[in-house]
Amino acid sequence: MKKIAVIGSGTMGSGIAQVAATAGCSVKLYDTNQEALSRSKGSLENTLSKLVEKGKIDDAEKSRILNATSYVTTLQDLSDSDLVIEAIVENLDVKRKVFSELETLVSAETVLASNTSSLSIASIAASCQKPERVIGIHFFNPAPLMQLVEVIPAVQTSAEVLQKTTQTISDWKKVVAVAKDTPGFIVNRVARPFYSEALRVYEEGYADFATIDWSMKTIGGFRMGPFELMDFIGHDVNYTVTETVFTSFYFDPRYKPSFTQKRLTEAGFLGRKSGRGFYNYSEEMPQPTEDTTLAKIIFDRVIVMLINEAADALFLNIASAKDIDNAMTKGVNYPKGLLAWANELGIQWCVEKLDELYGEYHEDRYRCSPVLRKMNRENKVFEV
Ligand code: NAI
Repeated sequence: MKKIAVIGSGTMGSGIAQVAATAGCSVKLYDTNQEALSRSKGSLENTLSKLVEKGKIDDAEKSRILNATSYVTTLQDLSDSDLVIEAIVENLDVKRKVFSELETLVSAETVLASNTSSLSIASIAASCQKPERVIGIHFFNPAPLMQLVEVIPAVQTSAEVLQKTTQTISDWKKVVAVAKDTPGFIVNRVARPFYSEALRVYEEGYADFATIDWSMKTIGGFRMGPFELMDFIGHDVNYTVTETVFTSFYFDPRYKPSFTQKRLTEAGFLGRKSGRGFYNYSEEMPQPTEDTTLAKIIFDRVIVMLINEAADALFLNIASAKDIDNAMTKGVNYPKGLLAWANELGIQWCVEKLDELYGEYHEDRYRCSPVLRKMNRENKVFEV
């Protein structure tokens, strides 16, 4: 698929357009807001100039990418596309309206994709006459830099559309992880305990947030600690994802959101973007307690909950073991894949650690995934 259309020229749409044009496709960007289109055009020119300055591309390549990208103001202009990727506001009714209108304009073979993070692809596909042509293509922010793309076939999607889509995204030099159409797909589901278990440790008063961050970086090798990362993402965004995953999973206690984070959003302490979240960016940063014994206990608790979530995603066939591990290393820069990490720490250790937490709290969030228990019994390791 070489003629690409992107609907919505905000953060994600602009990044996706850059990826496709860089890979040799012709790209049309459409937005209802003329200013958003002009901003997107300016930002692409800026980004490419910086890449030229750094010697990453030459002037000819910059001109080629700019010439391959056009900015259009009607949906009708997208009629000759092979693939349309929608990256507009995260609202099901608005997306369904755009998809049903779009379908009347494009050819019968055009693949229609959504970059949604939280809506079901099946519900978007159901707005079309030919739902088998609809698929999820979920990029990560910033799209040109993050290697991972989750590809999500809906229950209606045809095998041919899935094949064409994975081929195209691989041709764009991205790592594809195919995920089942379930809340949070892979990354936004499997990553939840990084935040929620860290918040729980903090709420219990076991350690302060600076110490928890220090523990995850020092012992685990994570680039950012959970509290730094939540501050970076923005508590409004991060809290909403947690709440959406929690409600979408019929209130499974494993995904329960945290009051601590909710209060921050209510107070307007949204993180870096508002100058204050857990950390106050106008003050000196709090110092962690650099106690490696305490840090190891904190790390063990958070990592085993992450491993449990990854194992359960495998158990429920959300994705393959390889795709689950790739998703976390290439989508959110984890230092290791979680299933590979489980092998390294030992499956028996994981089961015992989870049972110890369950024994302590008697809360369902600490239930051990059946796949870990079975592998421990059979003395197996994950094939990643
Ligand atoms: P954004 O707010 O930066 O951009 C959305 C753009 O869509 C705006 O320019 C707006 O004018 C345009 N738009 C709204 N309604 C439209 C319509 N009916 N027709 C045409 N254009 C319309 O949003 P962002 O962050 O780029 O997100 C877009 C989508 O990507 C959402 O579904 C979001 O959930 C998803 N996503 C966002 C990520 C992020 O980190 N921001 C990561 C992965 C997915």
